[in-house]
Amino acid sequence: MDTIELVEESFAKLPDGKKFAELFYQRISEHSPHLMPLFANTSMTKMADKLLAALTAMVAALHDPEKLQNMLGPLGQRHLSYGVLESHYSIVGQTLLQTFEEELGEEWTDDYAAAWSEVYSNAAQIMQEGAAKAKAQNQSTTETVKKPIKTGALAWLYSLPVPKLLILWLALSVVVLEIAAIYGVPNWTRLLSACSLVLLIMTMLRGNNDAEKAGILECWKTIDSSHGVKTSRARQIAMERLNEKKCAMNRLDLAEVCLIKISLDGSDLSDSNLSGADLTESSLAGANFTKARLDKALLVSVYAPQVDMSFVTLAKANLSSSNLEKGSFLFCNMKGANLSGANLQGANLTGVLMDKNTYLSGADLRGAIIDDSMLDQAYTIGMIRPDGSVVTEV
Ligand code: HEM
Repeated sequence: MDTIELVEESFAKLPDGKKFAELFYQRISEHSPHLMPLFANTSMTKMADKLLAALTAMVAALHDPEKLQNMLGPLGQRHLSYGVLESHYSIVGQTLLQTFEEELGEEWTDDYAAAWSEVYSNAAQIMQEGAAKAKAQNQSTTETVKKPIKTGALAWLYSLPVPKLLILWLALSVVVLEIAAIYGVPNWTRLLSACSLVLLIMTMLRGNNDAEKAGILECWKTIDSSHGVKTSRARQIAMERLNEKKCAMNRLDLAEVCLIKISLDGSDLSDSNLSGADLTESSLAGANFTKARLDKALLVSVYAPQVDMSFVTLAKANLSSSNLEKGSFLFCNMKGANLSGANLQGANLTGVLMDKNTYLSGADLRGAIIDDSMLDQAYTIGMIRPDGSVVTEV
């Protein structure tokens, strides 16, 4: 009998698939309680159903490597966003085999164990490759995001009120007159035309300025009208435009909204309510979230170096695999937050609140400022400490 036949045969022998899947999660919770925070947003019954369906589909696809690849690659990608790390796969694999043994009793043979071990390793590898690909893609897109912010003289001219524009026009006219005097071309016709040209440019700029203001107003109207709407592409674009125009968006109520992959580098969202919002894979470099509510928010694989999250509620938020390098998290509530695999190098975590459900497995805290007693309260196995050492046991 080959590997696939052995897997098919043993899988078919399970007396009750649902009971098997439930037992599997029970064993995970007993033997690997540190994995449980990852399942905080779901019920074990739902997870058991999903696992059984996934195993059934996987066993059915074993004869078709392409189908298996198409199924498991994206699944691995999704697992990255759940905060699953490479090291978790072997733990889950072992528990899977133990559960089989427990369920099939004497019918479970060494051949079955070897076949399942091979199939699971292969599946885990495809999932990890899918996750690695997604991580690489996300890094390259977020790192090349450029801020199309208007800077320099044009932005300054846009912002000038009418009286100041007039003074500028007069000053420019004087300069033109002076030049004409120095170079000895007191040609009034030319001078007049030069001045009118300046006036024309001013008027055009003034017009643009008004259009700009009208555009900003439209953006705010879009944001206001999407209040209570979970997913609104128009709101996302409006927020990005406002940010490009350097408009502060503090005190916004964006609870539970979907803002996946939004680009808000350098934005001001202080005091906003983003409780339960989905900001997965967003670009938030240098953004200001001070005193905002981000509890239960999804901030998975977010690119946010130098983000300011001081005095923010991040309780039960998912920040796994995010780049939070040199971020400021002063007195931030991180109870129950998932920071699995997050880059917190050089971050300031002074006064943060953590508890046993704060998950820091795989997080990199090299050079971070944090009170050791706070880290003692969190789950830190596999975390890189501020001094560069890796936590191997609690
Ligand atoms: C071959 C291995 C695995 C398979 C076939 C598998 C299958 C699944 C499936 C089908 C889902 C449902 C959601 C979706 O389709 O995206 C899921 C969710 C999940 N899995 Fe896995 N999984 C595997 C490995 C792991 C490992 C190693 C972990 C680590 C602890 C893990 C943790 C999770 C978590 C946290 C969720 C999300 C729960 C939620 O809905 O919040 N899985 N898995």
